[in-house]
Amino acid sequence: MTTSSAPGKIILFGEHAVVYGRPALAVPVAQVHADVEILASDLTGIWIHAPGVNLHAELNTLPFDHPIASVIRNFFFLARRSSFPNGRGARGEGKSPNLQINITSSIPVASGLGSGAAVTVALVRALSSHLNHPMTDEDINSFAYDIEKLHHGRPSGIDNTVVAYAKPVYFVKGQPIEVFKVGKPLTIVIGDTGISAPTKESVADVRKLWEADNTKWESMFDKVGEIAKHAREEIEIGDWRLLGELMNRNHALLQEMTVSSPELDTLVEAARKAGAVGAKLSGGGRGGNMIALAEAEKADDISFALISAGAKNTIVARIS
Ligand code: MEV
Repeated sequence: MTTSSAPGKIILFGEHAVVYGRPALAVPVAQVHADVEILASDLTGIWIHAPGVNLHAELNTLPFDHPIASVIRNFFFLARRSSFPNGRGARGEGKSPNLQINITSSIPVASGLGSGAAVTVALVRALSSHLNHPMTDEDINSFAYDIEKLHHGRPSGIDNTVVAYAKPVYFVKGQPIEVFKVGKPLTIVIGDTGISAPTKESVADVRKLWEADNTKWESMFDKVGEIAKHAREEIEIGDWRLLGELMNRNHALLQEMTVSSPELDTLVEAARKAGAVGAKLSGGGRGGNMIALAEAEKADDISFALISAGAKNTIVARIS
């Protein structure tokens, strides 16, 4: 049996503008994760069990664009092309092995916490290890980016990168990844609106705005990029006060981009009132999650305030 796990993620600064080449900061969230277990099976074929999405099926019965099936098919395509070094029945044109793949995830779907990227990374890592087809983190990241492109239109690549490396990343599309230091541990309270909102849609809507008025939105993205750069410096030196202010400013720009929602704004406001240093939506927006920077001793109060204001769930994450 082979097992593998990949964390969720939050974007601290720079979502959406990152699609247009501006920097963004993202960190892994270990409290939520996708887990994959692979076993040899007595049944013929590749059987996938993902109870969280009510999936119990043999690979060949799933449609071409099914997110989990596309990961497995792409893996076999790639592995056959380069051939398995010591493949267990999967070399060249040979038959695929009989497998049972169990997938579980505690990351809510379409909530800005990187659930799709985490399932892809955990699954491909488990397949590569079970079938003895070694892949580096870089290989896994580039594989996961190809899968993100299949399902999410024009992703920047930040989600798969932070999930594949499981480290805080300062990300600029198309450039080598930079891991950033966290000068003083950050306590982040994550509040879930409970509204699932596909990133693909908010990214497509921002693109329409950008196409309609390139100059205006390029300058908006520049402002977000400057905030992300500045935030990295503050995180590295550990100055929280300014960081909170930068989060608030980033949220205001995301509101202008039309990707916030009344529910997100309510939670952001509730967190600030409960003493958060700063708060903003995180990820694609329109629903999903918001984040609040907190002093460690205030995290429970902020969490309570978020639940009272309608959050379906909260997570207190410590980033160090
Ligand atoms: C989604 O987690 C982040 C976005 O910036 C989209 C992307 O970078 O691909 C909204």
